[in-house]
Amino acid sequence: MIVTIDGPAASGKSTTAKLVAKKLGISYLDTGGMYRCITFSFMKNNISYKEISLAKRHLKKLNMSICEKNETQHFYINGADVTNEIRSNEVSKNVSKISSLDFVRDKMVETQRKYAKEKSIIVEGRDIGTVVFPKADFKFFLFADEKVRAKRRQKDLIRNSENQSLEELIDEIRLRDKLDSERENSPLMKAKDAIVIDTSVMTIDEQVDFIIDAIRSNMKGKKNE
Ligand code: DC
Repeated sequence: MIVTIDGPAASGKSTTAKLVAKKLGISYLDTGGMYRCITFSFMKNNISYKEISLAKRHLKKLNMSICEKNETQHFYINGADVTNEIRSNEVSKNVSKISSLDFVRDKMVETQRKYAKEKSIIVEGRDIGTVVFPKADFKFFLFADEKVRAKRRQKDLIRNSENQSLEELIDEIRLRDKLDSERENSPLMKAKDAIVIDTSVMTIDEQVDFIIDAIRSNMKGKKNE
C-alpha cells in the first residue's frame, strides 16, 4: 500500500506522516529531507546550483542514506548524521533552487521509488501523488494558513536553537511556495484524486485520525465492493 501526502512548506506533512505510519505499522519517507540533504552538501562544499557540471559530479559522488532511529528518520551524508543540520534556516532558504534542478529530481525520484519498493509506506513531499506515485492507493493534500505555518516553522527552529521573526518566516514560506509551485519540473500540485485537508485549525491528532479514518473506511468500502 502506498499513501502519499503532498502540500506546501510547514503544512504539517512530516509530523502527520510519521504518526500515521506509526499507527498503521508501515514505513515512512520524508522526501523534503532528501532534497535538504543535497542542498546542505552543496552548501558545505561551496557548490553553486549554477555550476551544473560541478554540481552533477558532486551529486554522483554523494552517498546519502536514510535510516529509522528512535522512531525518527535520520539522514546521513557519506556516513555523517546530518538530521539536525538539514533543518536549518539557511538550508530552507536554498532548497527550492536545488530541488528545481532536473538532474537532482531525477536521482531523487529514482531513489524514492526504490526505497518504497515492496513496502507499505507513507511518502510525503510536493510531487508524490502527481509524479512519483501517480497510482498510489491513497492521496492526501495538506495545506494551512500562512501565519499558522510560519508559527509551526518558528517552533521547529527554536527546537533547533535558531530563531527568526514571524514576519521573516512568512516571507520565506511565501517565496518557497512560489518557487516550488512555479517550477517547470514536477511543481507542487494537488493530484486530481487527492483528499484535501486544511490543517489551519486542526491539531496533529485530528489530522492523523482524519487520514487513518479515510484510509480505513475506504479499505472497508473496497472489501465490500
Ligand atoms: O518538506 P520540506 O520543507 O522539508 O521540503 C524542502 C524542499 O524540498 C521544498 O521547499 C521543496 C523540495 N521538495 C520537492 O521539491 N519535492 C518533494 N517531493 C519534497 C520536497
